[in-house]
Amino acid sequence: MTRADAPAKMILFGEHAVVYGRPAIAVPIPELRASAVVEEHHLGAAGQIELISPLTEIRIWLHEAPPGNPLAAITSNTLAKIECTSPSPLKITIDSTIPVAAGLGSGAAVSVAVARALGRHFGVELDPQTLSALAYEVEVIHHGSPSGVDNTVIAFESPVFFIRGQTLELFTLRQPITVILAHSGQATPTAIAVEEVRKLRERDPVLANACFDEIGEITLAAYQALMKGGLEQLGELMNRNHDLLKVLGVSSPQLDQLVETALVAGANGAKLSGAGLGGYIIALVNADDAEAVFHALAESGASQLHKVSVHA
Ligand code: PMV
Repeated sequence: MTRADAPAKMILFGEHAVVYGRPAIAVPIPELRASAVVEEHHLGAAGQIELISPLTEIRIWLHEAPPGNPLAAITSNTLAKIECTSPSPLKITIDSTIPVAAGLGSGAAVSVAVARALGRHFGVELDPQTLSALAYEVEVIHHGSPSGVDNTVIAFESPVFFIRGQTLELFTLRQPITVILAHSGQATPTAIAVEEVRKLRERDPVLANACFDEIGEITLAAYQALMKGGLEQLGELMNRNHDLLKVLGVSSPQLDQLVETALVAGANGAKLSGAGLGGYIIALVNADDAEAVFHALAESGASQLHKVSVHA
């Protein structure tokens, strides 16, 4: 039996603009994880693999999976990568504590966990670059032309400063930060949100590109602040990033209300995180304010809450 796992992620700055070549900053969330267990199966013929996800009530054989099934895709692609056909039947069981369709990278984390576990089962320790590329292929099934930030931060399990197709800097925060994550109660439809931004850019390229440019500048300033310390301005940068995401049309009344609640309760800054239209907001807090912000968000109807520390 072989087990492997991978963390959730949150985008601190730069979502959507990252699709159009501007930088993004994302960090792993080690407290929330997806795992995969690969083991010999007592059912099935040689080479057959059963894919089981009790949480999403999926139970399918690889050779019977419909085209585009993400679990089947990561399994087949990984087996091809390690040039392996399984001599005996296998089963792969997925488990996860990462909320689904919430902008925390649950799909990419499952992909990385499966690829890592399958490789390991056959004696191959896949490196983060390869895991990231394998997970990216599955992200493409979900929403066409992903920037690649999700699979990258999850495969490397490190804070990343990321520019699509160009820059991948793994970095360490100068000082730890504490973030409260609050779920709006609505799913985040990544493909739809990305499509909305694409349509806005087609209708009004000047407005969209100005937003992307400003988000890019904010992300660069945030990167400097995270690298050098000086976290005072980070909250304000988050607020400005959220306002620009509003202009891009990917916030929602629920997300705006959670942001407002966090700020009133004493957060240094807050913004939606991920594709938006639902999913989570993130609120940057000082240790002293964490509890008040957490409670205010709970009172105002956040459906799930997590307090997360990003280590220096
Ligand atoms: O799937 P999510 O919610 O983590 O959003 C991904 C981030 C986007 O910038 C909106 C899309 C992308 O491909 O980077």
